[in-house]
Formats: sequence, C-alpha cells, structure tokens
Amino acid sequence: MTKWVDVAKPNEIPESEYKIVIVDDTPIAVFNLQGNFYAIQDNCPHQHLPLADGIVENNTITCPFHGAIFDIPTGEVLAPPACDDLVTYQVRIHEGMIQVAVL
Ligand code: FES
Repeated sequence: MTKWVDVAKPNEIPESEYKIVIVDDTPIAVFNLQGNFYAIQDNCPHQHLPLADGIVENNTITCPFHGAIFDIPTGEVLAPPACDDLVTYQVRIHEGMIQVAVL
C-alpha cells in the first residue's frame, strides 16, 4: 500500500524553488515547475552527491558537481557523466498539502 508523506503547503514552495524532505533516511527534493510539483531523490547517481542545488532550466536540473543533466518530471538522465536515471516519486495535493508517495 502506498504511503503518502506530507511535504509542505503548495504556497510554501514558490515557482522554480524546491524543498527537501527526509523520508526513511532518504532525501527527496520536491520542485515547483510552473505550478506543477515533482519529486526526485536528492542523490545524483554519478557519485551520490546532493543534486537539488543545481541549475534548474526548462524542467531539467544540472548537477552542481560534475554537470550531469536530468529531466525532473521523468528523472531521465540527459547528459553524462551520470549513466542512471534519478529515482522519482508520485506527488499529489491532498487536503491542502503536497504529498509524496513512498513505499
Ligand atoms: S555527482 Fe552529479 S554529476 Fe557527478
């Protein structure tokens, strides 16, 4: 059964900003992109460093360490040196809260 975890109220994450939540020792970054919320694991698959501080542009994020680029909505890796996609999470607005789905 899916476990939904509260992240924030929608107005607490302004457009193009993000919030980190820690769920079961896993950091998850929740982004607001043009009013839509997306959640990715805040862990670059290249060397397992935090990703959320990277440059966000056109729904992509560039890792601040070595420049790998990922699509935030899908987690797909778009440019090296990372080879693996990001872990993504379902997001919903429920009773006025942004929630992410975790197993
Ligand atoms: S840690 Fe992200 S590209 Fe190296």
